[in-house]
Amino acid sequence: MLETPTSTAAGPSTWTRKDLLDTDTLTRPEIDLILETARAMREVRMRPVSKVSTLRGTTIATLFYEQSTRTRASFEVAGKALGADVVNLTASGSSVEKGETLIDTVRTLEAIGTDIIVMRHHRSGAPYLAALHTGASIINGGDGTHAHPTQALLDLFTMLQHLGSLEGRKVVIVGDILHSRVARSNLWTLTAMGARVVLCGPATLLPRWLPPRCEGPGSCSVSTSLDAAIEGADVVMALRMQKERQERGLIPSLREYIAGYQVNAARLARANPGALVMHPGPMNEGIELSPEVAHGAQSLVEEQVANGVAVRMALLYLIAARSRA
Ligand code: CP
Repeated sequence: MLETPTSTAAGPSTWTRKDLLDTDTLTRPEIDLILETARAMREVRMRPVSKVSTLRGTTIATLFYEQSTRTRASFEVAGKALGADVVNLTASGSSVEKGETLIDTVRTLEAIGTDIIVMRHHRSGAPYLAALHTGASIINGGDGTHAHPTQALLDLFTMLQHLGSLEGRKVVIVGDILHSRVARSNLWTLTAMGARVVLCGPATLLPRWLPPRCEGPGSCSVSTSLDAAIEGADVVMALRMQKERQERGLIPSLREYIAGYQVNAARLARANPGALVMHPGPMNEGIELSPEVAHGAQSLVEEQVANGVAVRMALLYLIAARSRA
């Protein structure tokens, strides 16, 4: 087994958090440490033998109350790549179906020796409750409409790989902002890095609290016109149109949504040349992105997924090192 490279200038000893629940409280040095560690993890992934034994003896549980492909699979791959034992649990098929509470479930996982619980829950705030009731570390893998911190960090990592810096860069996030935990967590990291974020969508899919008071060096504004917002954009991130929202009458029809908010070749031509196209997935191809844009040269959709492993390895490494210290 090869050991993890320690090319990070700041070591894991500078990480002090037990849990990762959102990006809103992350400091700039903490974000930089995660990114730097993720770069080292990416190097590990590129080696012929892409496994190390750094987390041998660490047990990680993925506890998913809601469907997932990318987050769950990449945490499992990340944990195994670091030599950890990984246990996978979904609400379906576990004692949750017999009525076991969230608190009892996380305490049970702790009792069998779990060090880190990666958790997804349909209720906003559930990981915060879990974190209060277990000594195991909790990583939020997405809670309701609230937060998805590891997605935001892998999005940031991917943007920086291409742009170097986000200082003054225009990032347009378009779609169902109202229900998007991805948009919320991205807002904090992107403004912390100095980006000019534009949140764009139909008025019925924009929360009333917008624009928020941003404390980072970046800024945030709101637009209901993608044609206007996309002018001069360096990054365009489309969010999944949650079809179930139509039933609540928040958009007139998918056809009208596509007409106003789909990122297609004509709209992308209004952005800066070579603007990056992103989507957290899962994607409704032909709705949020036209097929030629989804699979075009500017699309980073698959790169985002690949980077998710390196970023999640970094987070597992930092959090496990903290709990062993
Ligand atoms: N982006 C994301 O969270 O995807 P999954 O739902 O597949 O995990």
